Amino acid sequence: MVTQHEILRLGHQGDGVAAGPVYAPATLPGETVSGTLSGTQLTEVRIETPSADRVQPPCRHAKSCGGCQLQHASDAFVSAWKQEIVATALEAQGLAAPIRGIVTSPARTRRRAVVSARRTKKGAMAGFHARGSDVIIQIPDCQLVDPKLLTGLPVAEALAVVGASRKGELSVTLTVTENGLDVAATVGKPTDGPLEIALAQVAERFDLARLAWDGEVIAMRQPPVQRFGAANVEPPPGAFLQATPEGEAALLDSVQEIVGDAARIVDLFAGCGTFSLPLAASAEVLAVEGDAEMIKALDQGWRQAQGLKKITGAVRDLFRRPLVPDELRKFDAAVLDPPRAGAEAQVAALADSRLDLIAYVSCNPVTFARDARVLVSSGYHLAWVQVVDQFRWSSHIELVAAFSRNEA
Ligand SMILES: C[S@@+](CC[C@H](N)C(=O)[O-])C[C@H]1O[C@@H](n2cnc3c(N)ncnc32)[C@H](O)[C@@H]1O
Repeated sequence: MVTQHEILRLGHQGDGVAAGPVYAPATLPGETVSGTLSGTQLTEVRIETPSADRVQPPCRHAKSCGGCQLQHASDAFVSAWKQEIVATALEAQGLAAPIRGIVTSPARTRRRAVVSARRTKKGAMAGFHARGSDVIIQIPDCQLVDPKLLTGLPVAEALAVVGASRKGELSVTLTVTENGLDVAATVGKPTDGPLEIALAQVAERFDLARLAWDGEVIAMRQPPVQRFGAANVEPPPGAFLQATPEGEAALLDSVQEIVGDAARIVDLFAGCGTFSLPLAASAEVLAVEGDAEMIKALDQGWRQAQGLKKITGAVRDLFRRPLVPDELRKFDAAVLDPPRAGAEAQVAALADSRLDLIAYVSCNPVTFARDARVLVSSGYHLAWVQVVDQFRWSSHIELVAAFSRNEA
């Protein structure tokens, strides 16, 4: 039976939400829509009264592909929606702060994506999953990712032909580097001699920088370099990387504004040195990270770079063993960029440390706001929040927040 609904708001996954709740994909607040209810999901959705914020999706794959959720919404709508989510998360913790205009990465700039690949009767196919389904949609004209990354689709298909099990699916992480594509595939067949030779041939045929198979490097043909400030870094296969160069630059600009001319900085959850290496142009840095391979990559990048101040790398689980106030007091500023869970234990220690300046980079407004409340309750001033949208057309949100002990 077809029913009609008023969309009241967007949910956190980007679906329109009507009273019930009823979830309707690719709809916007204020729209009247009709469709068939399946549980709480509206299917075969028809837009009866479109919103003024509705636009023609820029990508021809948008209707079938599940990679993007918000191509039907204007940039202005998405920006306002993301800023409002941050403001609401802060409000829920009794906090408020000036929220600066969002910085959105342009289309076709995503430098890292995970595609799926599967064998077919005729060979193989690679792409993103359809929304809420395990069907793979081919995306030759994807408007989200860097065109260089799209050259990885035939690579993923070739890898599936030689190394995917008959019914299984390969997950292939494609990363654009200074020297070509860095490819890391997981859940393939276990390697043996013939498979390793076949995989190395794929790396050769497509001129890949590096190919890793279930964490093991099969071919290293060119250094898979990322440039962080003055340093060239070779991250381990599949390691965390900011999603777009423009997003990374926006996050770094805000971090640099917050730490100012601090001479000693601690970079917590430092990864491969996205922030540590540029900051080392003018400050000594302690880079702390849980993954030993990432710290090794950061350290090698630092050793080969010219003109940087000292960076000391430390491998440490900051959830279980956060830096304690006595360790933190040696620094003028802290940069903090935890995973989605936030940094509850480390923030409690920062709150006690009374360290002057904190740049908190977050990919989850809810855990950020929870941690912000602890800092503010212990006397920190939350000066501003910069929202950064490097996951264009998705519901993801990134931000940088400026905390200081002195309100000046
Ligand atoms: C959002 S990433 C940020 C990395 C880096 N700041 C960057 O911009 O590239 C979060 C980092 O936290 C690290 N991490 C996750 N859990 C951790 C833990 N319990 N202790 C220390 N580091 C952790 C991850 O390995 C990852 O490098």
